Amino acid sequence: MSWGLSNRLNRVLPGLASGTGSVMFAIDHGYFMGPTTGLEDPKKTIVPLLPHGDSLMLTRGILKSCIPKECKLPIVLRVSSGNSILNDDMSNEKLCVSTEDAIRLNASAVAFSIYVGAEYEHQTLVEFSKLINEAHRYGIPVLAVTAVGKNMDRDLRYLSLASRIAAELGADMIKTYYCEDFSRLVNVCHVPVVIAGGKKIPEADALQLAHNAISDGAAGVDMGRNIFQAESPSDMIQAVRSVVVEGVSPEDAYKNYKSSLR
Ligand code: 5RP
Repeated sequence: MSWGLSNRLNRVLPGLASGTGSVMFAIDHGYFMGPTTGLEDPKKTIVPLLPHGDSLMLTRGILKSCIPKECKLPIVLRVSSGNSILNDDMSNEKLCVSTEDAIRLNASAVAFSIYVGAEYEHQTLVEFSKLINEAHRYGIPVLAVTAVGKNMDRDLRYLSLASRIAAELGADMIKTYYCEDFSRLVNVCHVPVVIAGGKKIPEADALQLAHNAISDGAAGVDMGRNIFQAESPSDMIQAVRSVVVEGVSPEDAYKNYKSSLR
């Protein structure tokens, strides 16, 4: 790994060096979901939360139009797209942002979705591999966003299949979903694994999920809806951070969260 790539990776996931988890704040949902609840006005709702994240995952459109130029967070730029929630099969994505533009936007990493077991599996895996060739030429780490076919359970079998394939193809970090026996998935990937939060669930459950993932070896969370759709997004990102980075128990983090609402 070149010094530049390693340095960028450690800025995106600072917990790798300190031995804690890291908080990647994900707000890229609009690239296929449009005006997602909680992200309608990112300047108003998201910018105040930035000081509490370690890195920010988003599209170039929202980066350019809503994120202040003084932003200190390392940027994880989504570079795959080509689909919308209106399609039954969501896997028809390709590489849509050049590495040149990622560099121009000062991205610290790029993120690409692979769809294992889906209709466009082959296309996404080949495009992903080509992205790695290109991004690594410039020392830019690549985050594999793993998705599995729509008829597949998000369980250890399929999620570890998708995650290990991503690692074999050269991913520098992997985003997947938490599942039973998650530590077995982490153990077969050999690169840092972060978990997505998934659909909004009660805050106490989201904090428990974050705790379970870190306890099972995740390098952090790549969490979006469970932060920006929480009753108080600002208090929620701080609660998630307390669990993931400071090792606060999910029960105490939830108590703190509830008391900060009053
Ligand atoms: C969307 C993504 C999201 O960034 C990822 O799923 C994390 O967000 P959430 O916690 O809301 O699931 O990759 O494709």
